[in-house]
Amino acid sequence: MRHAQNVKLSLHGLGKSFGPVPAVVDVDLSLHQGEFVSLLGPSGCGKTTTLRMIAGFMKPTAGSIAVNGQTISNPSTVVPPEKRSMSMIFQSYAIWPNMTVGENVAFGLKLRKLGNAEITERVNRILDTVQLRHLKDRYPAELSGGQQQRVALARAIVIEPEVLLLDEPLSNLDANLREEMRSEIRRLHDQFHITTVYVTHDQAEAMVTSDRIVVMNHGRIDQVDDPVSLYNRPRTRFVAGFIGRTNFLDGQVDGDQIVFPGFTVPLGSAPDSASLSGAASFSVRPQTIEIASSRSDGAGWWVEGKVTERAYLGEYWEYVVRPVNGDLKLRVTTPPTTIYEVEQAVWVRIDPARVARVPSPAAEGNLS
Ligand SMILES: Nc1ncnc2c1ncn2[C@@H]1O[C@H](COP(=O)(O)OP(=O)(O)OP(=O)(O)O)[C@@H](O)[C@H]1O
Ligand SMILES: [Mg+2]
Repeated sequence: MRHAQNVKLSLHGLGKSFGPVPAVVDVDLSLHQGEFVSLLGPSGCGKTTTLRMIAGFMKPTAGSIAVNGQTISNPSTVVPPEKRSMSMIFQSYAIWPNMTVGENVAFGLKLRKLGNAEITERVNRILDTVQLRHLKDRYPAELSGGQQQRVALARAIVIEPEVLLLDEPLSNLDANLREEMRSEIRRLHDQFHITTVYVTHDQAEAMVTSDRIVVMNHGRIDQVDDPVSLYNRPRTRFVAGFIGRTNFLDGQVDGDQIVFPGFTVPLGSAPDSASLSGAASFSVRPQTIEIASSRSDGAGWWVEGKVTERAYLGEYWEYVVRPVNGDLKLRVTTPPTTIYEVEQAVWVRIDPARVARVPSPAAEGNLS
């Protein structure tokens, strides 16, 4: 447990409904000082709504938000955005087209009535950090997308907010620039340690930038975890499928075995086997499954099957293997040197230590 006095920002039972439509439901979350947390989820899951409530642009219909233990939002009172020590970069980020880079970055400091010498010094320092000092007198229209993005970041950070809120700040950039900028954002964070909430629907972006990731689904939090745990120990089918690609094995406990479509394994070999009964489901990542031309003595769950599809992606092969006696499609990725033909008879080996237990389809359907 983190020490309570380190908590910077906390959301308690936070909710927002637009008329009868719930957009955010019962969100509980605490960020400690200097932590970088992403809100990740598909379009419409409530990320922007949550962020706008944190910023003070929107009043919650349930719950509360506190900074440093002081409540700043609840359904009856909202401290307005300009009275919160926060910076927000909006989903369609905008820098002012009629101001130069330097003027854009200085704007928040002028608003706070700082002296000219200090403004110049702080603007120059942040422009050095984002490597834009040489473009200080340019106008936004004379900048690339990535440079404009860095101006927006510099402008948000220069006022040294207590909390930085970023809503899909890289959505207007092409793939290469996005990759470059997401590392840049993390680098800036490591330098300034501003408590940050970062909204994205891109799992790679969340994993590169964040200390912890909050996966949202239909307005609710499905799981909050660090990137490694989230990937390796997803707690719902939704999380397993949203964070990377996966296979679901949906079986049934029968005596001392688990029966999957097309193969059967000893119950005792499954993770958490003592607590299993009835429906038993697992998530298995494609790159944790091995393919072999014949069964060997190696431990694990061996499944006899046939290659039904394959695709060469350069960095790896992607195979689909169907068990001989079952209607299951197993996606398997292998190094580029592991080559099997379509229709070839193969064995696949699943390492039970690398499968994650998830709710059965029926049970997860009842969760939300
Ligand atoms: N002002 C509004 N009035 C009514 N419904 C709204 C309003 N704003 C958002 N919603 C609804 O609330 C839900 C959550 O919207 P939100 O903008 O928070 O999603 P999001 O996760 O940010 O999605 P995206 O990734 O597409 O930006 C959606 O179903 C949306 O249609
Ligand atoms: Mg949004």
